[in-house]
Amino acid sequence: MEELRLNNTLVEDQQGEIYAPAEQSKKIFKQHFYIESYGCQMNFADSEVVASILQGAGFGPTINQEEADLILINTCSIREKAEQTVRKRLTTFKSLKRRKKSLLIGVLGCMAERLKLKFLEEEKLVDLVVGPDAYRSLPSLIEEAAGGQKAVNVLLSREETYADIAPVRLDSNGISAFVSIMRGCNNMCSFCVVPFTRGRERSRDPFSILQECRELYENGYREITLLGQNVDSYYFATSQETSTSFTFAGLLEQVAKIAPDLLVRFSTSHPKDITDEVLFTMASYENICKYIHLPVQSGSSRILQLMNRTYTREWYMAKVDRIRALLPDCGISADIIAGFCTEEEIDHQDTLSIMENCKYDFSYMFFYSERPGTLAARRYTDDVPEGIKKRRLEEIVSLQNRLSLESNKRDIGKTFKVLIEGDSKKDSAAWKARNSQNKVVVFPKENHAYKKGDFANVTIMDCTQGTLKGKIIVH
Ligand code: SAH
Ligand code: SF4
Ligand code: F3S
Repeated sequence: MEELRLNNTLVEDQQGEIYAPAEQSKKIFKQHFYIESYGCQMNFADSEVVASILQGAGFGPTINQEEADLILINTCSIREKAEQTVRKRLTTFKSLKRRKKSLLIGVLGCMAERLKLKFLEEEKLVDLVVGPDAYRSLPSLIEEAAGGQKAVNVLLSREETYADIAPVRLDSNGISAFVSIMRGCNNMCSFCVVPFTRGRERSRDPFSILQECRELYENGYREITLLGQNVDSYYFATSQETSTSFTFAGLLEQVAKIAPDLLVRFSTSHPKDITDEVLFTMASYENICKYIHLPVQSGSSRILQLMNRTYTREWYMAKVDRIRALLPDCGISADIIAGFCTEEEIDHQDTLSIMENCKYDFSYMFFYSERPGTLAARRYTDDVPEGIKKRRLEEIVSLQNRLSLESNKRDIGKTFKVLIEGDSKKDSAAWKARNSQNKVVVFPKENHAYKKGDFANVTIMDCTQGTLKGKIIVH
């Protein structure tokens, strides 16, 4: 979601990103894989698990498609456009295969799960189709595919969390890492394909999570984002006999305790599940970042009910008030869908007014895209004309632009402790950093001896809608 967040005003689906080989894997491999990932951060984290499994099977990563013996595309099904992008990429890869007969092409992730055999049988675009819970079978599937068989495993699991697999960090800045704490989703938001592509919710063993986080810290990482579709419902019974267990608040606290200079973030929180206990834990640890992504989807209680979100407009606003009361400096962002089934102008106005009320620092905004098999596709008609969906989305985006700018302007004059992520893209004489509220802060390096991964105190002098501009304060 990184690039999307910078824009603040996402309309398009995320573009695929090409992974660079991990620094630590300079080992010489006889065979190479090239992987592209689409969709949410969890898919990106999965690609790192896949990289680890493939290295175990003798495949090293490459960023050069021409050099690859295996091309994998980790796909997303969340909106139709995401799927179209993948199809285009597959046609490009197929032309590579014409030149190199031994090249294997595989589809991983949510589209693999959704379309299963379709890729192999009807379209003959790929050699391998592997769903999100079947990555351990990749080495044997690659062998089958190399032997000329069509290799498929799209079985979903109730247990798989890849807890014991140490992800190979791909395309990492060496400072920020994502750690998967759970998989799947048990919510049945009527618009959403995720419960079908990712299966039942299950939480990963907390000891393996803590171990991974500790190792990241020891390797120089300074920011960890705990990932799940609904992190607040994390639950792991560690001992049946003593009935000890971990809730999300407990896990968050343990990760925060690893080191005071390790920042902890998490995503995503379903508004219905985020508890006071989590908010209190956030308040107690300075290194737990004061930022909550709290998707609202719509501001209309009628639409929220059709979406099966299980909260009303009023309930959501009360939750935001509670967050602001316990964590006055907390950044809040949202996901918003324009033009869901039966949405009328009055519902749309409710969405605009809830945005004003909650003063989101930024949002990810989409127009509704019907997904086959979802509750909404079965029960309701996708009846808002495309032109109206797009016009409403534009209104939502321009309101968010204003709210983001206002939010950034409120920060002028404030001083933040920020984590330096690297050079500013536009200016190598400036650092790009992030504050606790997850806002990007750029500031001139001047003559100070800071480096990537350091913390700096920066006073904000100016801003745009997407960035805070500051100056280092030396105490
Ligand atoms: N688990 C997260 C969301 C994952 S999907 C949560 O519940 O918050 C990310 C976002 O994509 C959703 O929050 C929603 O805003 C959007 N989305 C999901 N399905 C969609 C659809 N069919 N059409 C348009 N946007 C959709
Ligand atoms: Fe989809 Fe809802 Fe689950 Fe999020 S909580 S992944 S929107 S079903
Ligand atoms: Fe997409 Fe699957 Fe994530 S549908 S948003 S990649 S869980």
